[in-house]
Amino acid sequence: MSIYFTKNFQRAFGTFPLTGDALRHALELALDAGYRAIDTAQLYKNEQDVGATLETSGIPADDLLLTTKVMHTHFTESQFLDSVKRSLDHLKRDRVDVLLLHWPPADGDVQPSLALLREAQLLGLTQHIGVSNYTAAMMRTAKALLDVPLVVNQVEFHPLLNQSVLLAAAQETGIPLSSYCSVARGLVFQEQLLRDIAQKTGKTVAQVTLRWILQQGVSVTTMSTSAANLRNNYAIDDFTLSAEDMATIDTLTHSCVRIVDSKKVPWAPVWDTPERA
Ligand SMILES: NC(=O)c1ccc[n+]([C@@H]2O[C@H](COP(=O)([O-])OP(=O)(O)OC[C@H]3O[C@@H](n4cnc5c(N)ncnc54)[C@H](OP(=O)(O)O)[C@@H]3O)[C@@H](O)[C@H]2O)c1
Repeated sequence: MSIYFTKNFQRAFGTFPLTGDALRHALELALDAGYRAIDTAQLYKNEQDVGATLETSGIPADDLLLTTKVMHTHFTESQFLDSVKRSLDHLKRDRVDVLLLHWPPADGDVQPSLALLREAQLLGLTQHIGVSNYTAAMMRTAKALLDVPLVVNQVEFHPLLNQSVLLAAAQETGIPLSSYCSVARGLVFQEQLLRDIAQKTGKTVAQVTLRWILQQGVSVTTMSTSAANLRNNYAIDDFTLSAEDMATIDTLTHSCVRIVDSKKVPWAPVWDTPERA
């Protein structure tokens, strides 16, 4: 079973783009709402704020699932491990629970950075290892190269994007998916179809959206700075969407809305689309 589906870690609080007081305040609200899985990254420049806030929260490290990600510019022999040690220093930890490669390398050759990631694990700097923004082909290559499981591929996942190719690769490789941009940075709230299902089920559009993600075996990462939205996004384990509602929401995936595209991230890989499968 995915580590993110143990305890209550299937709902993670994402910390991008928050830093400083805004981060501290939102993270405190998230911990109050019940979040125990926390997602940060070297790229977010907030690991120090995350570390300080978690330390003062008094929540035992064993009750948390702390994930950070190594920047692709640190994927060299000389920089990788030092950058992870710096992250641990910022996070005030001897090791993180999950260490991810934030992006695949620009040349598409995943072997060298996966070897460095595995080395970090063997040195005890992280309990689990995973990746982010990997394509289906990269997931298969990683599975073949590694002698331990990758616990996650964190990818953009919401009702306005068809990720059936990655879902199939997750089944095939045993590498579970986790979502980011889970509410498509607010775009899902404009969808009448989701509003109708929300009204029918007595839930909010955010809850219906996140539940649709969870019911596909994909753990959820969301960010909010609002106490009400955080509580709302967390309260998604007391209802089930019918197969009919799931299928209705599936029809929205034809919209092909990608938030994190190559305009925002020039080093992004060529994404999988159902036609390319
Ligand atoms: N691995 C990667 O490459 C990658 C890329 C992007 C993101 N991520 C991770 O995923 C996390 C989440 O993704 P994201 O923040 O980009 O997108 P998101 O969760 O889809 O959108 C966040 C936005 O949605 C709003 N929102 C959240 N819940 C809401 C609700 N119930 N009702 C109304 N508005 C709501 C928030 O505003 P309010 O503050 O007003 O609630 C915030 O502006 C990030 O924080 C980061 O940790 C990873």
